[in-house]
Amino acid sequence: MKEVCVITGGGSGMGLAVARYMGHNKIVILSGRTMGKLEKAVEKLTAEGIEAYAHTCDTSSRESVAALADFALTKGAIRNVINAAGLSPTMAKPEQLLRVNALGTVYVNQEFSRRMESGGVIVDISSNSAYVLPKFLISYKLYALADTDEELFIKKFVVRSNLPKGDYQKSGLAYAFSKNFVVWYASKCACEYGKKGIRVCSISPGLIDTDMGNAEKSEGGSMLKYTAQGRMGKSDELGYCIATVADERNGYLAGVDVLVDGGATTTKKYGFIK
Ligand SMILES: NC(=O)c1ccc[n+]([C@@H]2O[C@H](COP(=O)([O-])OP(=O)(O)OC[C@H]3O[C@@H](n4cnc5c(N)ncnc54)[C@H](OP(=O)(O)O)[C@@H]3O)[C@@H](O)[C@H]2O)c1
Repeated sequence: MKEVCVITGGGSGMGLAVARYMGHNKIVILSGRTMGKLEKAVEKLTAEGIEAYAHTCDTSSRESVAALADFALTKGAIRNVINAAGLSPTMAKPEQLLRVNALGTVYVNQEFSRRMESGGVIVDISSNSAYVLPKFLISYKLYALADTDEELFIKKFVVRSNLPKGDYQKSGLAYAFSKNFVVWYASKCACEYGKKGIRVCSISPGLIDTDMGNAEKSEGGSMLKYTAQGRMGKSDELGYCIATVADERNGYLAGVDVLVDGGATTTKKYGFIK
């Protein structure tokens, strides 16, 4: 049976970049909310010799994610899920950011892991914004609500996100909460699904030259000066890194976050670049 790699947010940016690496030996399914974008991306991959399909899915809806997973099964055994769907602070208000980035990860991990066999790998895309929250704002007890009471989870984090003044600051805080949650949740899932032979990791990119990265550059680009190379990352560099984490030869990499931000978070922490 053929093996399938499903990429949420696969119509553009890092999702499309990773499709080029995953597609050399797997069927690729690209998903997102906009069919026109997905079709264009599939056309490009097909011209490169990759077997690819487009399927719309809004990851903030469990039903939509379940339908995507069922569609994927009709193409073969689901081996990899790259969860790259996401919204950034300039794109949405706190509630939508939390629903797509945080609850979307819950739905993707749960619905796909139910349909995957041993040897499967899920990679959830977080952000180096996951690392900017002060410790006192992080509550794993509240994160656990995402599995038990989704609406209370949203309510608690919308209230917290609305504490700062300014729309961008509110959305920025919601984004940081949602991405910090992704790192925590991927680790939780790694432990839960590990018994079934499914590996889960997260990846936290820094500022990357995708549509989203360029939209965030002016307001959210303050970390750029801390990068070792003094530049944004390239979507292809992230595509390669994500594919490497998903590769079966990395079988002992589980429950961790891979921070791919040109060293920005670490050089800032150690004070190497001021
Ligand atoms: N670029 C950066 O600087 C950066 C930095 C750190 C983390 N990240 C994260 O990396 C991931 C990929 O982002 P990117 O930079 O490659 O940006 P991108 O090109 O904008 O890709 C994001 C994709 O997600 C899809 N999407 C948005 N909301 C969705 C939803 N509700 N359901 C399904 N798909 C949805 C979008 O397509 P539709 O609009 O058609 O649905 C889009 O194709 C995101 O999770 C982002 O938060 C990016």
